[in-house]
Amino acid sequence: MEKRFEDQVAFVTGAGSGIGRMTALLLAREGARVGCSDINEKGLAETVTSIEKEGGHALSIPCDVSDSASATAAVLRCAEELGGLQVLCNVAGVLRFQHTEETSDADWDQVLGVNLNGTFYTSRAALPHLLLNRRSAIVNVASLAGLIGQAYTAAYCVSKAGVVSLTKVMAVEYVKRGLRVNCVCPGGVATPLIANFDPPKGADLELMSRLSLVTKMTRPEEVADAIAYLASAAARSVNGVSLPLDFGVHAA
Ligand SMILES: NC(=O)c1ccc[n+]([C@@H]2O[C@H](COP(=O)([O-])OP(=O)(O)OC[C@H]3O[C@@H](n4cnc5c(N)ncnc54)[C@H](O)[C@@H]3O)[C@@H](O)[C@H]2O)c1
Repeated sequence: MEKRFEDQVAFVTGAGSGIGRMTALLLAREGARVGCSDINEKGLAETVTSIEKEGGHALSIPCDVSDSASATAAVLRCAEELGGLQVLCNVAGVLRFQHTEETSDADWDQVLGVNLNGTFYTSRAALPHLLLNRRSAIVNVASLAGLIGQAYTAAYCVSKAGVVSLTKVMAVEYVKRGLRVNCVCPGGVATPLIANFDPPKGADLELMSRLSLVTKMTRPEEVADAIAYLASAAARSVNGVSLPLDFGVHAA
């Protein structure tokens, strides 16, 4: 098997489930020593055990990405204990379906806090380590929801649009220092996040009809494949892109 990440260290948030777990497993299979991070310690332990069973190298680093100090300490621990940092994958995320007028301050803050602030906190903490390398990469997980106006998910859409923007800003700002920053924008992925697809009471499903174009679910393994590609040397000229993984819905 090709080992695209031999001798590299990767830090993956949201590694306790779904896309983050598959990303951590894939990067470890391909040679990376992986700092696996999540707020869910049980899920995290399962991921680390799976990696170790396959002979890979993983370190469990529980953290809450929405907490600046926790996210910063987690990245530092990864770089110190695994010996540097070449790849950062910001995968952790939460989703809520709500009418915009019923979205409380706490709901808004939670979704923005995990999805957008979390991506910023870990990226800011990782930058000094990533920039020590000749080449390094950040891959963020945004969403199709960050590219369109999806009803009943205002906080989620805004958080993911923010991730798309942060991706572009960092891509431009650090291009001369060997860092590439890209994001993936999946449509629907078969993970616990949308297992409970639950529009709020009184929702007009016609307003969500564009999503009916998402006729197939993407598998978390397929998102991990795209993340690994963007983090790999094969994507050396790819920087600042937001890659839809949505069977063409955004194009329609
Ligand atoms: N599933 C989809 O359809 C879909 C579509 C587009 C984008 N995404 C994005 O993909 C990413 C991964 O989601 P998934 O589908 O694998 O869902 P998931 O629920 O399986 O995984 C999300 C992980 O993030 C972790 N997490 C939540 N809050 C956290 C916090 N404060 N600190 C650290 N970790 C935290 C959870 O514990 C969980 O393990 C998310 O950013 C999500 O928005 C998912």
